[in-house]
Amino acid sequence: MDAAIEISGLHAAYDKADVLIDVSLTVAPGTITCLLGSNGAGKTTLIRAILGLTPPRAGSVKVFGAEVTGEATHRVIARGVACIPEGRRMFPKLTVAENLRLGAYQEPSEAEIKRRLAEVYDTFPRLAERRNQLAGTMSGGEQAMVSIGRGLMGKPRLLIVDEPSLGLSPLYVKENFRIIEGIRARGITVFLVEQNVHQTLAIADAGYVLSGGRVVAGGTAAELKSNAEFHAAYFG
Ligand SMILES: Nc1ncnc2c1ncn2[C@@H]1O[C@H](COP(=O)(O)OP(=O)(O)OP(=O)(O)O)[C@@H](O)[C@H]1O
Ligand SMILES: [Mg+2]
Repeated sequence: MDAAIEISGLHAAYDKADVLIDVSLTVAPGTITCLLGSNGAGKTTLIRAILGLTPPRAGSVKVFGAEVTGEATHRVIARGVACIPEGRRMFPKLTVAENLRLGAYQEPSEAEIKRRLAEVYDTFPRLAERRNQLAGTMSGGEQAMVSIGRGLMGKPRLLIVDEPSLGLSPLYVKENFRIIEGIRARGITVFLVEQNVHQTLAIADAGYVLSGGRVVAGGTAAELKSNAEFHAAYFG
C-alpha cells in the first residue's frame, strides 16, 4: 500500500533563511505518526510544504502515492487530506455547526453533509449540545473539539494536526489524545505534530524528531523511546 505521506530530500526556506534541510520521512497508512520538535524546529513549515502553502526549494512530497510537490493546496486537500492548523483558527462569530460545515465545503450533497455532522456529534456530544453557540464563546477544550470535528467533516483519509494540545488544560489534553486514537481506529491516518513527548509517544506508532530543520531521529515509538540521544534531549 502507498504511504500516506512520503517526503524525500525536502528543502524549504523563507527568503534567505533555510528552515527545512534535506528532510525525508514516511507516514505509513493507518498509523499515528508523530513529528516532535521544539519551537522553531520547522514543524509547521513542513506541514505548509505538504499542503503546497510553502513550495519547497528542492525535494518531493507524495500523498497516497501521488506526487503533489508544487501542487495547489485545494488539489492536495482533494486527495483526502485535512489539516487542523496551529491555534485551531475557527470563525468565532459563526456557530459551532457553521464552523463544522466549513470543513465539508467541497461536498455538494446536503444529505452527505448531514450524515457527517451526525457522526461528528456522535464523537463529540458536547458539540451537539452547543451546535448553535458562537464558536468564539466556547472554552479552549471545546474549541479544540470544533477544530478536530471540522477536519473530520472533509472525510479525510489523512488528518494532519498541528500541536492540538497546546494551551489546553491537562484534562482536555488527555481527552484530545483519546480522540486522536479514536480517529486512527476509524482507519484515518494521523500525522501528529506535537511537543508533548510523553503523551504523544504513548499513542503514536512511529515518529520523527525535527531539530534545526533536520530530521535527527526516527523510528517506531518504542525505538524513539529507547533512542539514547533523543532520550537525553527530551527526558534529561
Ligand atoms: N512566514 C515566515 N517568514 C519567515 N520566517 C518564518 C515564517 N514562518 C516561520 N518562519 C521561521 O521558520 C522557522 C521554523 O518555523 P516553524 O513555524 O516551521 O516552526 P515550528 O517547529 O512549527 O515551531 P512552533 O513549535 O513554535 O510552532 C522559525 O525560525 C521561524 O521563525
Ligand atoms: Mg508550529
